[in-house]
Amino acid sequence: MLGGIPFPFLVLCPLYLFGDSASFSSEEKIQSFQNPDRNEVQRPLELQEIVIVIQSQSNTFHKKRAENLRENLLNQASSISKDLPRVLLLHEILKNEGSWTVLPVIPHLADVHGKNSSWIFFCEEETTVKLQRLLETLQRFDNTKSWFLGKALYDEESTIIHHYAFAENPSVFKYPDFAAGWALSMPLVKKLAHVLRNEPPSSDFTIDLKHEIALYIWQKVEKQELTSVPEFCTDNPTSSKTETCATAFNGSLLSCGNPVKKEDIFVAIKTCHKFHKDRIPVVKKTWERDAVHFEYYSDQEDNTIPTTDLGIPNVERGHCGKTFAILERFLKSNTSKTNWLVILDDDTLISLSRLRKLLSCYDPNEPIFLGERYGYGLGARGYNYITGGGGMVFSRKTVRRLLNSKCRCYSNDAPDDMVLGMCTSGLAIPVIHSPLFHQARPTDYPKDFLTHQVPISFHKHWNIDPVKVYYAWLIQDSEEDFHRKKHLREEL
Ligand SMILES: *[C@@H]1O[C@H](CO)[C@@H](O)[C@H](O)[C@H]1NC(C)=O
Ligand SMILES: *[C@@H]1O[C@H](CO)[C@@H](O)[C@H](O)[C@H]1NC(C)=O
Ligand SMILES: *[C@@H]1O[C@H](CO)[C@@H](O)[C@H](O)[C@H]1NC(C)=O
Repeated sequence: MLGGIPFPFLVLCPLYLFGDSASFSSEEKIQSFQNPDRNEVQRPLELQEIVIVIQSQSNTFHKKRAENLRENLLNQASSISKDLPRVLLLHEILKNEGSWTVLPVIPHLADVHGKNSSWIFFCEEETTVKLQRLLETLQRFDNTKSWFLGKALYDEESTIIHHYAFAENPSVFKYPDFAAGWALSMPLVKKLAHVLRNEPPSSDFTIDLKHEIALYIWQKVEKQELTSVPEFCTDNPTSSKTETCATAFNGSLLSCGNPVKKEDIFVAIKTCHKFHKDRIPVVKKTWERDAVHFEYYSDQEDNTIPTTDLGIPNVERGHCGKTFAILERFLKSNTSKTNWLVILDDDTLISLSRLRKLLSCYDPNEPIFLGERYGYGLGARGYNYITGGGGMVFSRKTVRRLLNSKCRCYSNDAPDDMVLGMCTSGLAIPVIHSPLFHQARPTDYPKDFLTHQVPISFHKHWNIDPVKVYYAWLIQDSEEDFHRKKHLREEL
């Protein structure tokens, strides 16, 4: 356990090393990590020693946002020093389907910036960064040592999205909230690059990246833990709470003008006879009223819903045949020539009104394929896909390109979302990630993470009251109502 920990460190904080670290607040830890005479021994950190990596996406709208942030950072930098930091867009560093998962670019960053940089700071395109504060914050940490800094999230209960990690006590494991920004000191980047070259991540699926990165670092690099830094914040930039923060996060729902019209969205709901009685009534009680064009696709006719039979035999899982039949029907339909198609499970809960706002930021004449991004086999020629349970959003153009290609299900019960990802990857249609779509239930995500977003979807009815969850988390309302609803959520 003591390997690699230098002697002065032992003297400064023996309790941390030998006591139960979980019983210390993050602030106490930070205090004890500080070197009291750093000002004498440590030269000041220069801006140009920081490499900033914006976790960007290649889609036109997102690229523009990342470029705006880069410009903002360089403007701030030029008023602080004449030597500017490098600001990189993650999707441009390596042309690789998996580069959004960060670890694949680490060896590259170590090679190119290892000699003349001290820190790599990562942030999202919506993160607000106060560069001077960031510099002061990083300065507190001895950059000849390994540091993994961020705003810590942890699981209160073990969760499926983290493969039930640390099931006995999931809260012991801390992982960074990307929205607040996070940082790796160069010594850690180099160690990580070395490990990555010899032992690339072995898991097939990339599900919750922030947890997976923290776990990889902890497992492979000397049990390196995340240090929670109070200056990395996710409060709204206008909040007085952010005065001492180096970062902030605007969690308002993005919108770019008038919401997409209700009439311009076709909603396809996949169901089967087994769920007609328990899941469909929930849809009818919640979000169905916000849809103009919608159809339920089932293996069995049921006029009370009513359902549409696509002539595809029902399968227990996968539903690939059914999903492709939905795509065909969408293109051929004479009645609703909507720009957008949304495919949902019968146990997906969604706010269509929020979705309509978000869609105002995308050009339906581009091939848009939007939702919660997962990765499969990214270590070896894998692909990204939109996980189906949280909802898959297609522009008509994407559907046309998909059906014009030869890419199809290898069987009716192949996992539809993964096959679609494989197909879009082959067609060079990038998957667009939005963290507002959720493959799991609100209780599966840390509270601190959900606090700074206006969610669009959740998935699964298991062990929850889905109607209550819908009203607590997804009902259309003003921002004020959204915050007033907090107490309702806390009851759940
Ligand atoms: C750091 O090194 C890289 C690669 O050698 C070089 O491209 C970059 O300009 C250097 N930056 C500074 C600030 O010296
Ligand atoms: C936060 O984002 C919303 C939606 O994009 C925008 O209207 C608002 O001006 C932003 N607020 C700040 C403080 O940046
Ligand atoms: C669409 O309309 C055309 C001609 O108006 C008709 O031949 C065709 O059968 C219609 N297709 C569907 C799916 O209703």
